[in-house]
Amino acid sequence: MQLKASIAAVAVAQLAAAQELMRFGCSQLSIDRIDPLVNPGSLPSPHMHQIIGGNSFNVSMTPGSHDPSTESTCTSCTYSEDFSNYWTANVYFKARNGSVKRVPQVTNLGLGVKAGMTVYYIRGYQSSAKGFRMLVGDPANRAANKVPSGLCFRCESNMQQSPFGGAPCTGSDTKAFPKSTCGGGWRVTVTFPSCWDGKNTDSPDHKSHIAYPSSGTFESGGACPSSHPVKIPQVMYEIMYDTRAFNNKAEWPADGSQPFYWSHGDNTGYGIHGDYVFGWKGDALQKAMDGKCSGDRCAPLKRQSDADAIACTKGQTAREDIGTDKWLAAIPGQTEM
Ligand SMILES: *[C@@H]1O[C@H](CO)[C@@H](O)[C@H](O)[C@H]1NC(C)=O
Ligand SMILES: *[C@@H]1O[C@H](CO)[C@@H](O)[C@H](O)[C@H]1NC(C)=O
Repeated sequence: MQLKASIAAVAVAQLAAAQELMRFGCSQLSIDRIDPLVNPGSLPSPHMHQIIGGNSFNVSMTPGSHDPSTESTCTSCTYSEDFSNYWTANVYFKARNGSVKRVPQVTNLGLGVKAGMTVYYIRGYQSSAKGFRMLVGDPANRAANKVPSGLCFRCESNMQQSPFGGAPCTGSDTKAFPKSTCGGGWRVTVTFPSCWDGKNTDSPDHKSHIAYPSSGTFESGGACPSSHPVKIPQVMYEIMYDTRAFNNKAEWPADGSQPFYWSHGDNTGYGIHGDYVFGWKGDALQKAMDGKCSGDRCAPLKRQSDADAIACTKGQTAREDIGTDKWLAAIPGQTEM
């Protein structure tokens, strides 16, 4: 355990020194079928999510009136001034008999929170503004070439993520769900665009106010397009799904099809997407960017204990079986699949 954590810490420290890379853990806040960004007011929303961050997460978080940094009383993130909410779909396994079960998440290497996700803010210039929201990817997508760059799956051969390293979405990482069993589960990466129009904190599709660099990439220092001239930190999520309980091939479909599904009923994986609602207190994020913060401890920011982050949870709003401890006849909300 100790060795594993220190290997990860060294690797992260090297990355951090090179990149001004904030990397911090956020424990699971809740698993709930609500989506205040895409389906505000819908209870339940069309599909199930796993959510981290401030506990003011709710069915509706009306822009302008709901400020997560003042309405939350705790956050599941270790940086305790971060009341933002970060969420993605869940992953389910469908056994040969048609029953489904939720694939659990596990804590990432070197972090002490419980399940949840790892959040990165990489090499920021200007932090995004209060009320800022965004969406990347599309749950309705079923085409590999429409998955934005920076969203992908890594089939880990062991829980030590060894061999460790390689930038996300390089090497043998895939846009599709891994097609074979993975001895160390999946590492799923969701990266947001890093150019902002500098005016709108949101847009009707939750995407038009942000963009990718016009040439090159964020990593290569590519310029932002004139329509979206403001460079914001690159926000990235890493989610570790522990698929090991589902590695018995006798439970996989006899026809060789994919047994894993996003909670929106997609077994290609191409519907990979992530949601973001900014909720940093005051100018904490800007201070972190100006201070070139790295890792999960940085002087301008306050950090709570892992135990306090783990203690911040929120009960389900859409009360239903999630499929964590027992097999369900269908993924919640996906009765037609
Ligand atoms: C969620 O919203 C409802 C009303 O829409 C409100 O009564 C409730 O207190 C809110 N919960 C949280 C945790 O903010
Ligand atoms: C379906 O298969 C799973 C995995 O073998 C098993 O645990 C579950 O009880 C089965 N469900 C039904 C309804 O038979």
